[in-house]
Amino acid sequence: MCGIVGYAGTAPAQGTSLSANHRALEVIVEGLRRLEYRGYDSAGIAVAGANGIEMRKKSGKLAKLLEELEQNPLPAASSGIGHTRWATHGGPTDENAHPHVVDGGALSVVHNGIIENYSVLKATLLKRGHSFVSQTDTEVAATLLGDTYRELVLAEPGVPSTGRLSRAMAAVARQLEGAFTLVALHADEPGVIVAARRNSPLVVGLGDGENFLGSDVSGFIDYTRRAVELGQDQVVTISAENVEITDFNGVPAEGREYRVDWDAAAAKKDGYPSFMEKEINDQPDAVAQTLLGRTDGEGNLTLDELRVDPSVLKTINRIIVLACGTSAYAGQVARYAIEHWCRIPTEVELSHEFRYRDPIVDERTLIVSLSQSGETMDTLMAVRYAREQGAKTVAICNTNGSTIPRESDAVLYTHAGPEIAVASTKAFLAQITAAYLLGLYLAQLRGNLFQGQIKDILAELAKVPAKIASVLANADQIKDLARSMADTRTVLFLGRHVGYPVAMEGALKLKELAYIHAEGFAAGELKHGPIALIEEGQAVIVVVPSPRGRDSLHAKVVSNIQEVRARGAMTIVIAEEGDESVREHAEHVFYIPETSTLLAPLLTTVPLQIFALALATAKGFDVDQPRNLAKSVTVE
Ligand code: F6R
Repeated sequence: MCGIVGYAGTAPAQGTSLSANHRALEVIVEGLRRLEYRGYDSAGIAVAGANGIEMRKKSGKLAKLLEELEQNPLPAASSGIGHTRWATHGGPTDENAHPHVVDGGALSVVHNGIIENYSVLKATLLKRGHSFVSQTDTEVAATLLGDTYRELVLAEPGVPSTGRLSRAMAAVARQLEGAFTLVALHADEPGVIVAARRNSPLVVGLGDGENFLGSDVSGFIDYTRRAVELGQDQVVTISAENVEITDFNGVPAEGREYRVDWDAAAAKKDGYPSFMEKEINDQPDAVAQTLLGRTDGEGNLTLDELRVDPSVLKTINRIIVLACGTSAYAGQVARYAIEHWCRIPTEVELSHEFRYRDPIVDERTLIVSLSQSGETMDTLMAVRYAREQGAKTVAICNTNGSTIPRESDAVLYTHAGPEIAVASTKAFLAQITAAYLLGLYLAQLRGNLFQGQIKDILAELAKVPAKIASVLANADQIKDLARSMADTRTVLFLGRHVGYPVAMEGALKLKELAYIHAEGFAAGELKHGPIALIEEGQAVIVVVPSPRGRDSLHAKVVSNIQEVRARGAMTIVIAEEGDESVREHAEHVFYIPETSTLLAPLLTTVPLQIFALALATAKGFDVDQPRNLAKSVTVE
C-alpha cells in the first residue's frame, strides 16, 4: 500500500558533491524506490524551496515521475516528502496522486490509509467555500489542516511559526476517523516535517544532522539503521537536529529506539532477475534463521521472546490463528501440527471476518496472529478486538518494530529477512516454521509430548533447509513445464491434510503472479462438486502425501488423481522421492526429499512457487509487483 518518505536535513557534509537540493531529492527518490515493493500506481514529491512548496507528481510508476523531474526539476531544498499511492478514493490519476498542495501552495500533504469520516468533513469544507481538485480523502484532510493552521495564525498574532504545524496536525488528527499516516510540509517552517499516525505505519529514522520518516525502515535503510517506533495516535515532528513526539493532545511521548537488524544489501536482488526469485532461493536460510537460537544447551525449546506467563499458557483451552492470504494458509498448515502435538482445539480465521461475527473469545483463548509485515490492518484490528475480550495474543511476525507485535502480549519473530516481492514466499515457510516452534513449545510446557519426541521433531526440522536447497537445485523440470504452459487459462490444485492449504497457496501464487485462474481444493471435496470443472486437458496439480504417512491418506489422494485423469485432466504431481506408485497416473511428477507428513509443506510449496514464477516470467509479467496488489495491506 502507499509508501511514505519524509526527509529533514541541512546542507550535505563537506566533501560531498551533492547540493542540499540533491541530498533531499536523492534520499526521497531512493526511499520511494525501496518502498516500490509495497505496490503503487502513482508517485509524487514535494520540497520546501526558497519560493515555497514545489511539487511534482505523476500517475504510473516511479520512472514516470523521474522523467517529469528531468523535464521540470525541483528547486534547492533541504527537506521534503515523497509518496507512492495505491488508489483507494479515486482512480490512479495525476490529480489523485499525492502530495496534495493546498492553502494557496503553502502546505503539502501525503497520506496512507482511509479517512472514514472524510465525506462529512468535505461537506463542511465545501460550505466554507473550498473546492477540491481530486476525489481523494487526502485532499480533504490537507484542506482541513490548512484551515486549522490559518486559525492558529490568527489566534497567535506575533507568535513565531515554530511548532504551529505540529499543533495544527494534532488538532486535525483528533477530528479524523479511520486509519491514517498523514505527513505535512509547510512553507512557513521549511526545515520541518510533521506526521500523525493512527492505525497506519510510520517509522522515524535517526541520522546525523538529518532525520527521516518512512512507512517502513526500507524508506531510509540506505542512510541509517537507527529507527524509532511510533505509538498509536502520535504526532512526530522532525527537523535536521530534532525528533519530537507527542500524543494527539500535544503531551510529549517517548518513542522506542531500535536498531534495524537487516542491512540494505539484504534488500537487493543479489544478481537474481527479480526479488521473487531471490526470495524463493532465500528459503533455506529463512527456515534456518527462524530455527536458530530457539533451544537451550540441552535441546529444550526456550523461545525467549515469548513473554506470556507459562502458567497462563498451561491453562488455555483454545487457539485461534488470525491472518490473511498466504499467512492464513501458513496458519492452516500449522493448525494440523498444533492440534496433533498439543491437543488444543485450534481454528484458523481470516482476520477480516473474525471480529464482525461476534466471536466467542475469553482469557483462556490464545490468539496467534501471523503477519509478514506486522501492519496488515485486518489482522491488527482482529488482534485488538481479541485483546479487548481478554484473550492473550502472540504475534508471529517478520518485521521488527511493526504494529501487530507491538500491540500483542508476545512475539515470535520469523527471521526470513526483508521480503520485498509483493507476493509472499519465504515468509510463508518461515511462518510455518515459527508456528511449529510455538506448537512444540506449548506441547513441552503442557507435557503433551515427551522431550525425546520434541528433540526428534526439532532434529528433523533442522534438516529441512538442506532439503529445500535440494528442491531448488532440481527445479529445471518444473520451470520447463511452466514455460510450456504459458497459454494455459486455468489450473486446479488439489491437496489433502497439510497438502490442502499448500494447494491453496499454490493457486494463490499462480493467480497473483501469472493472472491465471487457479483454485485450490481439498482433494476429498472434489467429488462434492468441483469435479464438474474437469474437462479434456484441464491442468490439475496434485500435492501427494508421503506413502509412509498415516491413515491411507496417500492411497486416497492417488484415487483422486485417477478420478480427474479419467475425465481428461492433465495431471502434474508433487510426490515424495521413491514414490513410484504415482508415476502411472501423472503426465509429470516432481519429487521432493523425504520428510514427515507435518513437515512436508516446507518442501511441497517450493515447486509450486517456482511453477508460478516461471509461468509468469514466460508471460512477461512483473513478478515483483503484480498488478493491483500491495505488499502491506494497511486499509480494511
Ligand atoms: C500473497 C500475500 C498476501 C499476504 C497477506 C497478509 O502472496 O503476500 O496474501 O500474505 O496480505 O500479509 P501479512 O502477512 O503482511 O499480514
